[in-house]
Formats: sequence, C-alpha cells, structure tokens
Amino acid sequence: MFMNCRRVKKWHFLQLVSMCCVMSVLMVCWDHVDNQVVSHVKSYSYRYLINSYDFISKSLSVSPEQAARFGSYPYLLNNKDICKDKDILLLLFVKSSPGNFRRRQAIRSTWGNESYIRHKLGVIIKVVFVMGVHPDVHTDSLLQKIMHKELFKEHMNHGDLVQQDFLDTFHNLTVKLLLQFRWMHENCVHTHFLMSADDDVFIHLPNLVRYLQDLRRQNVRNLWVGHVHRGSPPIRRRDSFQIG
Ligand SMILES: *[C@@H]1O[C@H](CO)[C@@H](O)[C@H](O)[C@H]1NC(C)=O
Ligand SMILES: *[C@@H]1O[C@H](CO)[C@@H](O)[C@H](O)[C@H]1NC(C)=O
Repeated sequence: MFMNCRRVKKWHFLQLVSMCCVMSVLMVCWDHVDNQVVSHVKSYSYRYLINSYDFISKSLSVSPEQAARFGSYPYLLNNKDICKDKDILLLLFVKSSPGNFRRRQAIRSTWGNESYIRHKLGVIIKVVFVMGVHPDVHTDSLLQKIMHKELFKEHMNHGDLVQQDFLDTFHNLTVKLLLQFRWMHENCVHTHFLMSADDDVFIHLPNLVRYLQDLRRQNVRNLWVGHVHRGSPPIRRRDSFQIG
C-alpha cells in the first residue's frame, strides 16, 4: 500500500497528542480510576475469560453431595444453650484453633467479656469460639491427650467452645465458616446479627454495638457488611485450593 509520507506523520502526531490527552485525564483521575475502573476490568476479565474455560471450572467444582459433607462434620464440643437468652443482638463467632488457649483467654477478659458488655452497653452479645481438630493429633497421641483434656476443661469452665471433627488447617477455613452458619441455624436463629471474627483481632465493641443498634432500629433485612475486595478474583491455581 502506498501512503503519503507527510500524511503518515500527521496521523502519528495526532495519535500522539490524543494519547497524551487520555493519559493526562487518567493521571488526574488516577485515584478514582484505580479503585473503580481498573479493578472492574480485572474482575470482569476473570469472570468472562478465565471462568469461561470449562475445563478450569470443572476441575475445581465439587458435587452437591461433597459440598453437603463439608458442612456436616460431627461436633466434638458443643453447647446448645449458649443462645438461650431471648434478645441477642449479635452472635460473634471467633475463629480459633485448639492450641490458642491464651488468645481466647485474652479475648474473654478484654473486648469479648460478655457480662461487661451487658452491663456497660446494655445489650446481649454471645462470643463463641469455633475450631476443628489440631492437625497433629492423629500422629501424636500425647498431644491428643493433652489437647483433649485442656479443651474439655476450658469447655466446662467457659461453655463457649464449639469444635467439629475436621482438621483445623488454613485450607479448611471454608469448613469453619460452614460450621458457623450451621450452628447459627441450629442453635441461634433468633440472633439479630452474626459476625465472623478471628482470635488475633481487636473489636471495638462500643462502636460496633452503636452501629448495629442503628441498623436494628432501621429494621434492615438481608444485609451483608464487610470490606468489598473489588477486582479481587478467585485464585484459580489448583495447588492453592484444597478441601476435603
Ligand atoms: C468481665 O467483666 C466483669 C465486670 O463486668 C468482671 O467482673 C469479670 O472478671 C470479667 N471477666 C473476665 C474473664 O475478665
Ligand atoms: C480438612 O478436614 C478434613 C477432615 O478432617 C481432612 O480430611 C482434610 O484433609 C482437611 N483438608 C485440609 C486441606 O487440611
């Protein structure tokens, strides 16, 4: 194809100028663009490109029977009476592990002190520690004995432990979440709110209670609150996901 040299240069020049314009607009609105557009493009490309490869999705999916099993491991420690109070504002699950005695104790005596909350803030909050089985107990019988004894003692003293018979590992965190939903449905459906926290966090309960009471006054339904990870697609590497 034959092209006039001067016209090409002019065309290039125009391209360059328009490119600069777009770039400067982008730079000016960078914060906005960064949070909204970029993350959405990322998220949508994952949703429509990666997820449309059937062979990837199939290799990662589980059957409904398998999925049902994840939520139905038998209880080893349980206390069905935790929610016997009528007017419970919040059922606060704290994801813990069998060995984290000291963390649980720290929570009970600080931000998770139920009687303090009841007297100072005038609301009923139930703090329940959820866990699986220490991953080493099957290979170490001494550890198993100690763990069992200590946990049982703690269970008798505080009555705030719920343990199911699955290995307490990072990749079984999904199972731990299912445990929370199941337990709530079985034993605490009347709670106004449910929260899932960790045993290494601090929760400012006066602020949280004020926020929840506001929501309750407005009679909100079907509300989920949390940090939205925009443009944070699921990790599709097979070795990064393993359950059961
Ligand atoms: C919880 O707070 C009450 C005061 O309301 C206090 O008497 C009690 O010792 C505290 N519990 C723990 C485990 O620190
Ligand atoms: C999750 O728990 C189940 C039941 O104990 C166990 O068979 C499985 O290996 C655990 N999965 C992981 C990834 O630890």
